[in-house]
Amino acid sequence: MPLSATRQARLENGLPKIEITLPEVGVQVAPETYFDGTHSDFWLEIGFGKGEHLAALAAAHPEIGMIGSEPFLNGVSGLVDLVVEGNLPNVRVFKDDARLLMDSLPEASIGRAFILFPDPWPKARHHKRRMVSAGNIAVLSRILKDGAELRIGTDHMEYCRWIMAHMLASADFVWQCDNPADWRNRPDDWPSSRYEIKSREAGRVSSYLRFIRRPRSL
Ligand SMILES: C[S@@+](CC[C@H](N)C(=O)[O-])C[C@H]1O[C@@H](n2cnc3c(N)ncnc32)[C@H](O)[C@@H]1O
Repeated sequence: MPLSATRQARLENGLPKIEITLPEVGVQVAPETYFDGTHSDFWLEIGFGKGEHLAALAAAHPEIGMIGSEPFLNGVSGLVDLVVEGNLPNVRVFKDDARLLMDSLPEASIGRAFILFPDPWPKARHHKRRMVSAGNIAVLSRILKDGAELRIGTDHMEYCRWIMAHMLASADFVWQCDNPADWRNRPDDWPSSRYEIKSREAGRVSSYLRFIRRPRSL
């Protein structure tokens, strides 16, 4: 759906102040380059939808530089509105495929990453489009710092099994789980996203998966 004239104007005014543009392919850029030098760490959200989760974290953690990637223009517009309304100077947006952004980030440069309710692509012939894949897990492993947390949420049972199988197959990540409550309940510091709320209202059950990037030296 095209943006209304008002939203288009707000996007054109707000986006250039927070938009990330990438260097040429093959060149890596440290995340601090995109901020003003006052942030202690940098977190990355892949596919932020309309940005509720990202904006809530940015408000709760002004010390963190929050980077979000989302190719859906309506979603980018939603986040730009939240950034303006919430006066959030610590948000940057890449309005394209997160894989391009991740490729441009240096090794061990991101302190936390989020993939919330990624498109499940339920048909087998579309599984190769899934964001959680061996290739993307390897990229996340490269850009995440030692001990960094990767959070993945989903309400799709089969994709959840796929995510677990792929994550547990990686030697670089450890699942943070002592008991079922650890994945059945959304942690207090994990703000809701639009998709999660819609899913809950529709009566679906979500899984909240947390993985830690193993230290490289061990
Ligand atoms: C089901 S929606 C979930 C949105 C949001 N995370 C939420 O929980 O409300 C999945 C999102 O992933 C985005 N997405 C899909 N492929 C992507 C990619 N390659 N890079 C970044 N975002 C992507 C879609 O545009 C969509 O907004």
